[in-house]
Amino acid sequence: MANVAVIGAQWGDEGKGKVVDWLASRADIVVRFQGGHNAGHTLVVGNETYKLSLLPSGLVRGKIGIIGNGVVVDPEALLSEIERVRGQGIDVTPASLRIAENATLILPMHPALDRAREVARGERRIGTTGRGIGPAYEDKAARRAIRVADLAEPQTLADKLDELLLHHNTLLQGLGATVFSKEAVLGLLTRLAPQILPFAEPVWERLDEARRAGRRILFEGAQAVMLDVDHGTYPFVTSSNTVGATAAAGAGIGPAAVGFVLGIAKAYSTRVGAGPFPTELPDATGQLLGDRGNEFGTVTGRRRRCGWFDAVLVRQAVKVGGINGLALTKLDVLDGLPELKICTGYRIRGAHYRHLPAAPGAQAAAEPEYEVVEGWTGSTRGARSWAQLPAQAVKYVRRIEELVEAPVTLLSTSPERDDTILMRDPFEG
Ligand code: GDP
Ligand code: IMO
Ligand code: MG
Repeated sequence: MANVAVIGAQWGDEGKGKVVDWLASRADIVVRFQGGHNAGHTLVVGNETYKLSLLPSGLVRGKIGIIGNGVVVDPEALLSEIERVRGQGIDVTPASLRIAENATLILPMHPALDRAREVARGERRIGTTGRGIGPAYEDKAARRAIRVADLAEPQTLADKLDELLLHHNTLLQGLGATVFSKEAVLGLLTRLAPQILPFAEPVWERLDEARRAGRRILFEGAQAVMLDVDHGTYPFVTSSNTVGATAAAGAGIGPAAVGFVLGIAKAYSTRVGAGPFPTELPDATGQLLGDRGNEFGTVTGRRRRCGWFDAVLVRQAVKVGGINGLALTKLDVLDGLPELKICTGYRIRGAHYRHLPAAPGAQAAAEPEYEVVEGWTGSTRGARSWAQLPAQAVKYVRRIEELVEAPVTLLSTSPERDDTILMRDPFEG
């Protein structure tokens, strides 16, 4: 028996929430280990749709949810999300949700700085979610962040705020944005502390106990390998590591406990923010994929850019992300297309590449080399067994497996929870 980590293998929004929700029925604990409320995970269960940003998707299945130390937590966003899902009948209490006492907080100056910087970048903006993710991780690395446990120590808060505000107000002033007063931020934290602290604990201890008792732990990734701060299309990335290895450090558990790394990939490609996207289709086919796939950002509402499946990038994500198997989602969106293309290499300034180089100029210049695959006329929508798939759809999946050098162990054929085909149970290792 293994634990399982679910990570995105493209640029996010691959359907991690749906897959985590489905797998959570076999798990005891679901842990978020990086990112913050920049994530938007959609779960469709019968007539109910749940949109989760910070809460682990396993809560919808009544499992214990843990927010690990690697997550950046906006306490106001967390409390309003808890209220929202409570309204949908999901019980979120300190018994079902635990937050790492050493997790970093996102405070009001973080989104303010995030947005002011994006404005200052102009044409070169990253297209961030504006939620303060980058500035919060910067403060963590710079050792000036306020963490969950600090909420219990008024003097620590007051002392830390001096350093924090000196840094942020200097930057905000330089960018022509509104500065923050110590009284206002301290007042906010004092008000939030009694609402957040009941959830806080050293979650590593709970995870260690669970591991030793043979409980199944599901690690829920956010964003994706191509948005990883090291391995993604830097600087058009998020500010955390999103690879499988991060599950260990971001939860407070050893690497061997992570187990099977399940990479989630769409049967085509999408991207929300700015940055290189070699297989992007700025034409009618891209528009069609976006319409049929309902490709609008869960968090931003922005239309997602769409393109063909990029086997070069997913293969790269398999290698650096430590992906043992792939869940391929949204195969149904390709139903009825006469022909499909898969990117198998790039031409960059006259040379052939089988990976995406790190230099931004080379990434922007990458011209995809395509293999053309015949489409299928039947429907895959809602298929729940391999036998229900048209032969040509099976061929497409098999070709992807070969090119990305990883087995497809799960297929998703609609947004609905149970429209899922399991080929190999990741909890079996
Ligand atoms: P995440 O961020 O990786 O959790 O993905 P999102 O929830 O942001 O975006 C994925 C979208 O695709 C959601 O609206 C899901 O309901 C939907 N979805 C997931 N799997 C499938 C699938 O197999 N087919 C279709 N048509 N939609 C899917
Ligand atoms: P899920 O978990 C898709 C993108 C933003 C932007 C870049 C940096 O739903 O897959 P940030 O606010 O993190 O500093 O923005 O990363 N981005 C996502 N794109 N899905 C996400 O999460 C994303 N989280 C961040 O659009 O390009
Ligand atoms: Mg999403």
